Amino acid sequence: MESLTVALGERSYPIHIGAGLLGRADLLLPHLRSRQVCIVTNTTVGPLYADRLRQALPDREVLVVELPDGEEHKTLDTLALVFDALLERNFSRSCTLVALGGGVVGDMTGFAAATYQRGVNFIQIPTTLLAQVDSSVGGKTGVNRPLGKNMVGAFYQPRCVVIDTDTLRTLPDRELKAGLAEVLKYGLINNAVFLDWLEANLSLLLQQEVAALTHSIRVSCAEKAAIVAADETETGQRALLNLGHTFGHAIETAMGYGSWLHGEAVAVGMVMAADLSWRLGLIPQAAARRVKRLVAAAGLPVVPPTLAVETYLRLMAKDKKAEQGKIRLILLQSLGSALVKADTDLAMLELTLAAGSNLTER
Ligand code: NAD
Ligand code: GLY
Repeated sequence: MESLTVALGERSYPIHIGAGLLGRADLLLPHLRSRQVCIVTNTTVGPLYADRLRQALPDREVLVVELPDGEEHKTLDTLALVFDALLERNFSRSCTLVALGGGVVGDMTGFAAATYQRGVNFIQIPTTLLAQVDSSVGGKTGVNRPLGKNMVGAFYQPRCVVIDTDTLRTLPDRELKAGLAEVLKYGLINNAVFLDWLEANLSLLLQQEVAALTHSIRVSCAEKAAIVAADETETGQRALLNLGHTFGHAIETAMGYGSWLHGEAVAVGMVMAADLSWRLGLIPQAAARRVKRLVAAAGLPVVPPTLAVETYLRLMAKDKKAEQGKIRLILLQSLGSALVKADTDLAMLELTLAAGSNLTER
């Protein structure tokens, strides 16, 4: 097992990474404030892993809440299922919520923990690659609304993150690839050496080779932990973690939540960001094409869905980074370095939005 720290003063917490950690009660016990533990999971992950977790806590009052599976259920209505289950069992302010699942379960459990009786402890046990490298770390929690993704939520940090790499064995291939999008993101925004390594090792990652996957999780978590420690509530550099996300969120919202996976939308969004960075003269065309090649090699989409340019612009202006309707984008200044651009040239942006299968081409 390896452990990293998210350094946030009194609210610092460990990220444990390794095989077989699901049964390691010793990692969880220091963070439980009372006997009451609520495992929040979903109808897919619960049957696979909830019992193993429950058995690790034999002397606790363990409640398991299984939510419906899917991004389309990341809603306030679904959240109410958690609150009602906690209230029915008289769970008090000293209870602990444990998120067992992907990013959807993690984001909702975190928000439930932030708001149940004005805040209870929570622990993240992420079971998708995407959640292991991104969503379980950093304390962004929340739910979607029909008009915008993740628009209702809170910054609320977990007490610890336990990443059991064994859980990836049951993850469908499409979900593994979606997670790789966020892994590529760290290379693109801040770590050219890691990007080179990813390019050389993509086929091992796609075959789920354990050492390669564990390395990619460790580097990704270290990148994320450093950014979160420096800018917890996204007043500055944390925004860089949203490379491709403004395009991606527009795609997810327009296509209907759950139709494009989050990682897929982010993947093509990163190609769109690379395309725009090239059109604006920030990176050479060859670099933008390299991004497209990498995303394609990871088995991820490089052609955005056909949406009217006005639809993209309308949805992108609703992004959380937007200020008074003005779109702010994360762009690349090299492969391994990103920047926030507030005053993007609209004509250039429209070219990117209209490029379709010709992204990174004139
Ligand atoms: P997800 O939670 O929907 O999980 C993907 C699918 O895999 C689901 O069907 C799930 O039931 C299944 N699954 C999970 N673990 C499994 C396992 N081990 N074996 C078999 N099946 C398994 O999707 P995701 O990609 O994990 O997360 C996407 C969500 O995360 C989005 O809502 C996105 O907005 C959010 N997100 C949040 C942050 C953050 O900082 N909070 C960052 C990135 C993404
Ligand atoms: N996934 C973006 C962030 O955590 O800030």
